[in-house]
Amino acid sequence: MVKGTSLRGFWSSRLAFVLAVSGSAVGLGNIWRFPFMVGENGGGAFVLFYILCVFAIGLPIMISEVMIGRRGRRNPIATMRIVGEEEGSHAAWSLVGVMGIVAGFLILSFYSVIGAWTIAYLGHSLAGSFSHLPKEEIHDLFEALQANPLKVVVLHTIFMTLTVVIVGRGVERGLEKLVRFLMPALVFLLGLLLVYSIVAADFARGVEFLFRANFDALTPAGMLMAMGQAFFTLSLGMGAIMAYGAYLPEGTSISRTSFAVVVVDTMIAIVSGLIIFPIVFASGLDPAQGPGLLFETLPLAFGSMPWGWLLGPLFFALLLFAAWTSAIGLLEPAVAWSVESHGLSRRSVAIVIGVLIWALGLLTVFSFNLLADVRIFGGTLFDNIDHLASNVLLPLGGLLITVFGGWVMCKNSSADELDIGTGPAYRTWRFLARWVAPLSVLLVFLHAAGILSALGLV
Ligand code: PHE
Repeated sequence: MVKGTSLRGFWSSRLAFVLAVSGSAVGLGNIWRFPFMVGENGGGAFVLFYILCVFAIGLPIMISEVMIGRRGRRNPIATMRIVGEEEGSHAAWSLVGVMGIVAGFLILSFYSVIGAWTIAYLGHSLAGSFSHLPKEEIHDLFEALQANPLKVVVLHTIFMTLTVVIVGRGVERGLEKLVRFLMPALVFLLGLLLVYSIVAADFARGVEFLFRANFDALTPAGMLMAMGQAFFTLSLGMGAIMAYGAYLPEGTSISRTSFAVVVVDTMIAIVSGLIIFPIVFASGLDPAQGPGLLFETLPLAFGSMPWGWLLGPLFFALLLFAAWTSAIGLLEPAVAWSVESHGLSRRSVAIVIGVLIWALGLLTVFSFNLLADVRIFGGTLFDNIDHLASNVLLPLGGLLITVFGGWVMCKNSSADELDIGTGPAYRTWRFLARWVAPLSVLLVFLHAAGILSALGLV
C-alpha cells in the first residue's frame, strides 16, 4: 500500500478489516475517556445523548468515511482531492484531509501521555503495588505519578517510539495479527471485571448513574462533549477511518462492517462505565474527578479481588495494546500523506512526525504538574488541546466528510461504492448522511456557542 503502488485489496478479509478498524476505534477513548466524561457530565443524560450521537451522526459518517476512502484509495488528503475532482467538485476538499492531520497530531500528543500513564500502571500492577491499598493511597499513587514529570516524559517517549516503529514499518505488517487475538482478550477481561463490579461493588448505583437520565445535568457544553466523544471513540472525522477504508477490498459491505464496529465500540464503552462507576460509588469516590478516574478506581478492584495480582497486569497490558493500535491510526494519515505526496521514506517521515508530536505532548505532561496553573478558557493546556481536537476539529471534519459523501458524491457513485442497492437501507443512509448528521453537528455547535438560546430557540 504505502509503497505508492496499488492499494487494492490489502486487508486479507472482511474480518481483518473489522478487526483493524475496531483496533483503531477501541482504545483509551472507550476505557479512559468515556467514563471520566460521563462522570464530569452527570451520568445518564450524557450517556443517552452520546448513544444518540453515535448512531444518528457517527454511523452515517463512518459509512461515508469508509466509502470515500475506498473510492480514493490514497491518503486522506489525496483521496478527498481525487474523489472531489472525479465528482466534478473543487480540489479544496483536500483541506478536510489537512484538518484531519492536524487533529490527529493534537490527539496523539495527549493520547501518548495517557499511554504513558498506562505503562506506569502496568508497572505498579506488576510490582503488586495495589494490594489492599485504601483509596487514599491509590489516590496518592496517581498524584505521585503526576508529581514526577520526568517519569511521565520517559514513558511518553516509550509509547511514541512504539507507535513510530509500527507506522514506520508500514501498517500492513503486524497490525492485523496483533488485533486478531488481543481484542477478544480485552473483551474477555472486561467481562471478568464486570463480574467483579456486579458482585463486589455497588452495581445498582453504577447502573442508575449510567442510565437514569437527568436532563438538568446536561448542559450545552456537555452535549458538545458527548458529540465529541462519539467522534473520538469511533476515530471519526480525521481521516483515520478513511485511510483504513483505502485498503478495504471491493465487495465487502461497508455498511454492515461499519455497523459492527460501531456496536462493538459502544458496548465496550458502556461496559467500562458499568465496571468503573460501581467501584466509584462503593468506595465513596467522586465520579467527576476527571482524567484520573480510571487510574483511581480499577486499582482498588485489583487490590482487593481474587487473582487481582494477575488480572491487574493483564488489564493494563491489554489497555496499552488497545491504546497502541489506536495511536497507529492517529499517526498513519500524516505519514501516508508525506510518503505518497513527497516520496519520502516512510521510516524517516514517521520519526520526524513522531518527534514533533512527542514535543507537543510535553504540554500535556506538564498540564498535570509544572504548568497546572496555566489556564486558558478555564482549562489546562491539556483540556484545551483535547477540546479543540475532539470537540471542534473532529465534528467539523465529520460534518464536511458527510456533506461530501451525501451531497458532492453523486447518487451513482455512492450507490455503486456502498453496493446495497438503492432500496430502504441506502435511502436511510443517504438521508442520515445528507441531513441528519450535518444538521445535528451544526445544531450542537450552535447550541454550545450559546446561539440557539440567544435566538430564543431553546
Ligand atoms: N478511537 C480511539 C479511542 O477511542 C482514538 C482515536 C481517535 C484513534 C481518532 C484514531 C483516530 O481511543
